[in-house]
Amino acid sequence: MIVTIERLGHLGDGVAAGPDGPVFVQGVLPREVVEGVLTGDRLTEAKIVTPSPDRVKSPCRHARTCGGCQLQHAADGFVAGWKQQVVETALAGQGLTAPFRPLQASPGQTRRRATMSARRTKSGVLLGFHARASETLVAIPDCLLLHPTLIAAFPGLEALVTLGGSRSAELSLQITQTRGGVDVVVTGGKPLDATLRMDLARIVESHRFSRLTWGEETVALRDRPAQTFGAATVVPPAGAFLQATAEGEAALLAGVRTALGPQKRVVDLFCGAGTFALPLAEAMEVHAVEGDSAMIAALELGARHASGLRRLTAEARDLFRRPLEPDELAHFTGAVIDPPRAGAEAQVKALARSTVPVIAAVSCNPITFARDAKTLIVAGYTLDWVQVVDQFRWSTHVELVARFSRGG
Ligand SMILES: C[S@@+](CC[C@H](N)C(=O)[O-])C[C@H]1O[C@@H](n2cnc3c(N)ncnc32)[C@H](O)[C@@H]1O
Repeated sequence: MIVTIERLGHLGDGVAAGPDGPVFVQGVLPREVVEGVLTGDRLTEAKIVTPSPDRVKSPCRHARTCGGCQLQHAADGFVAGWKQQVVETALAGQGLTAPFRPLQASPGQTRRRATMSARRTKSGVLLGFHARASETLVAIPDCLLLHPTLIAAFPGLEALVTLGGSRSAELSLQITQTRGGVDVVVTGGKPLDATLRMDLARIVESHRFSRLTWGEETVALRDRPAQTFGAATVVPPAGAFLQATAEGEAALLAGVRTALGPQKRVVDLFCGAGTFALPLAEAMEVHAVEGDSAMIAALELGARHASGLRRLTAEARDLFRRPLEPDELAHFTGAVIDPPRAGAEAQVKALARSTVPVIAAVSCNPITFARDAKTLIVAGYTLDWVQVVDQFRWSTHVELVARFSRGG
C-alpha cells in the first residue's frame, strides 16, 4: 500500500488517510510518499518512496533501535516549527492565538537527568533505554542526548546492577548530574542486607557518585549532590524534579525574567527546589510555594547560606487542593507558575480572580497550558507572548514559557 503523510501526530508518528480511517507510520515526515504493509491501523515495513526535503540522516547510531528519540530523522528547523505548531494547535483548540518569540533549543549531549533501565544478562549487564513501545532494552553507549558525565557513569551503573540486580527483574536507574558527581536512585533492585549495603557503598566511592538511593534508603552519600540556582547552592532530595538541561533551565529563567520585568514582590507557584525563586530573589522579594516539603526544606537551606538575596519566604502547600486565594495573591506584583503536566486548574482559577498584574507561566503540557490560558483570558488577562523551549531535543515533548498581563 502507498500513502502520502499528511502530518505528524502528537507522538511523532506520521498520519495518512487510509481506506478505513487514519493510518499511522513511524519515522516519516509530512508530504512523504511511503510504501508498506497495512497492519491494523499501522503501516509496517515502511519504505520512503519520496523523501521530504526536511529529512536528514539520524545523527545517532542508535536511532533506529532506541526508543528514546522520535525525531532524529527531521531537520532542526522542521522540529522547531512542528513544536511551535503543537502549541498553536492546542491554543486554537481553546479559540486562542498568540505571538511567538523564537524557539530556544538545547544542544545534544546536554541532558543532565535521565531514567535508564537495566538488567543482568548471561554475559553481564544490559543498560539502556527501551525500544519504542517495547519491553526490549537497547544499549546506548554512544547516545547523543545524554551529557558526557552521565555516559561516563555507565560502568559504575553496570557495577551496581551486577551486584544488586537479577536476571528476572528490570531495574530503573534515575541519574542526575550534580556538582558532587552523579546522583543515582535505583528502584527494583535486590533487598538490602549488610553485605549488599557495603558493596554498593564501595561502588559509589570508586566511581565517585555523589549519592546512591536504593529504593527509599540512602545507601551512600559520598559528596553533596548539589545544584546551583543563581547565587545559591541547593541539595535537592533524591529523585526530585530538575529541569532536564542546564541550557533549558537558563532559557526558561530568561523567559521568566523577561515576562516579569522589574518587580517588587513575586510569588513562585510550584517552585520545586528554587530553580526560579532563588535567582529571582537576587532582584526582588519572593514567596516560593511547592507541594513537596523536602524540596521546600532544600530551598530554604540554600537560601540561608546564599548572600545578596532579597527577602525570600517559602511554604509547603498542596496547590491543587489549597491554591493561594485572591486575598493572599493581592500582596504580589507578579507571579511565576510552573505546574506539573496536569496543569494548575485550581490555582489558575484563583489567579483569574486576583489582581496580580503579570504572570510568567511555564508549562510542559501545551494542552493543560491552553486550558489554563483560556481561564486567565476569560477573566481579562492578555496572552502577550509564548516561547517554546526545547530541552527534550529529538523527542515529541514540548515545553514553553508565556507572559500574561492585565490592567496597564
Ligand atoms: C514542572 S515542576 C517545576 C518545578 C520548578 N519550578 C523548577 O523549575 O524546578 C512542578 C513542581 O510542582 C510540584 N507539584 C506537583 N503537584 C503539586 C501540588 N499539588 N501542589 C504543589 N506543588 C506540586 C512538583 O513537586 C514539582 O516540583
